[in-house]
Amino acid sequence: MKIAIVGVTGLVGSIMLKVLEERGFNKIQLIPVASSASIGKKIKFLNKDYSVVSVEEAIAQNPAIAIFSAGSDASLKYAPKFAETGCFVIDNSSAWRMYTNVPLVVPEINSNAITLETKIIANPNCSTIQMVMALAPLHNKYKIKRLVISTYQSVTGTGVKAVRQLENETKGIDTEKAYPYSIHRNLFPHGGSFLENGYTSEEQKLVDETRKILSDNSLRITSTVVRVPVTGGHSIAVNIEFENDFTLEDVRKLLIAMPGIVVLDDIEKNIYPMPLLSEGKDEVFVGRIRRDESNPNTLNIWIVADNLRKGAATNAVQIAQYLIEKGLAK
Ligand SMILES: NC(=O)c1ccc[n+]([C@@H]2O[C@H](COP(=O)([O-])OP(=O)(O)OC[C@H]3O[C@@H](n4cnc5c(N)ncnc54)[C@H](OP(=O)(O)O)[C@@H]3O)[C@@H](O)[C@H]2O)c1
Repeated sequence: MKIAIVGVTGLVGSIMLKVLEERGFNKIQLIPVASSASIGKKIKFLNKDYSVVSVEEAIAQNPAIAIFSAGSDASLKYAPKFAETGCFVIDNSSAWRMYTNVPLVVPEINSNAITLETKIIANPNCSTIQMVMALAPLHNKYKIKRLVISTYQSVTGTGVKAVRQLENETKGIDTEKAYPYSIHRNLFPHGGSFLENGYTSEEQKLVDETRKILSDNSLRITSTVVRVPVTGGHSIAVNIEFENDFTLEDVRKLLIAMPGIVVLDDIEKNIYPMPLLSEGKDEVFVGRIRRDESNPNTLNIWIVADNLRKGAATNAVQIAQYLIEKGLAK
């Protein structure tokens, strides 16, 4: 089977190759794709060298699956061209996520949104993925009414240029900036671009995508996204108000039973999730599970995951695995 990785030279693209290797994709014919600036560049996959090709060349090779992590403009322009050939597109950008006929998929939650007619499948925003992984089992049991979300997002969420900015600033080297301010010894309440309602695009994604994945437009959600000088993963504090009451013991049990979730919650031993622990791992870590004593039926939790893994590459590769296992991609 031919699989194209569009954006293979980027942060997500490079992790995508690792995840494909780890998950036994050793019989695929890889088609590595990037911008015109990278054509001919060598990429290693399973100890074999591959040359990066153009998008046009990749379409001509007729892959069964194309996984995009090349930004929204490239996805908007090229995903339909791959889809026209019968190829399944799994897209990491925000370009297609809110189209009604495009499923927004976290395989542990809603792979059934993929139908025979589906050609473009959207991978949700990195923060949304890790958050809904913890919310879904709780929503099923207690029905969420309202969420108050605060994120602490890693610079790896912005791509290669942002990681370089933090590294250079840490060493005192003058650097090209991915952000309007210095990120070393700093943080800012600004992820993506500002919208007319005063929220940022990253904040709005958490609202819209959570409602779509949990299939509940009545959910009341407000969010604040903060960029922090961290590289190992995104952290999220969520305050969850439920329709029905819960016990902390039952909440723990539901989270432990959810595939892909690891509960790290032993405050007596200072055990809780942190980006240093999540880096390079596929799981979503949940801790600081406690009742909000100021409001009925309300819970506080803390969720950490490697945004390049479950927040991007791992989730996309899981979708590819699903397409293959179900015999949809051949
Ligand atoms: N970082 C995350 O945590 C994360 C999580 C979820 C989703 N995403 C999404 O994934 C995408 C990539 O993110 P990233 O962090 O990997 O960014 P990145 O490090 O800046 O990499 C961007 C990649 O896209 C390629 N590219 C750019 N324009 C292209 C074009 N016109 N045609 C083909 N390839 C093109 C680049 O190729 P060159 O090297 O040739 O420029 C590079 O391989 C974005 O849409 C982002 O929103 C990122």
